[in-house]
Amino acid sequence: MTGPLPEPLPAPLALTHLTLDHLAIATPDLESGSAPYLALGLHPEGPDETVEGQGVRVRAFVVGGSLIELLSPTRPDSPVATFLTRRGAGLHHLALRVADLDAEMERLRAAGAVFLNDEPRAGRAGTRVAFLHPKWGAGTLIELVEHPAGHGA
Ligand code: CO
Repeated sequence: MTGPLPEPLPAPLALTHLTLDHLAIATPDLESGSAPYLALGLHPEGPDETVEGQGVRVRAFVVGGSLIELLSPTRPDSPVATFLTRRGAGLHHLALRVADLDAEMERLRAAGAVFLNDEPRAGRAGTRVAFLHPKWGAGTLIELVEHPAGHGA
């Protein structure tokens, strides 16, 4: 008896070079935006943090080894303020954790990827981040995150 060969098993998670760092939700107000996550039983990780370079105030909720980040604009010209005006509150981007951001940017650029920022920028909690263009991301804004040595990754 012959049949289709079984599909190869996916690589174990430990062998992939990416993990989900966070999902980011745009909200006009951190307090009202927090309500569903608090009701779900999630807890903020540390105090809220302002990331001036991105014009956002961030509240992070721990979910397993990842975070849900709420982003609230700190100024009218914040990209998140523009997002809220155009699309309303909701999922803003997803972020993947990488061990070496510079190397990953170089590798992806060589493969034709388009970044919104040419150089890594400062993110929350001492991270370095870079955003890929949502058109490259097939409609989704994808962020790459490198944690400081000894934290995560
Ligand atoms: Co992010």
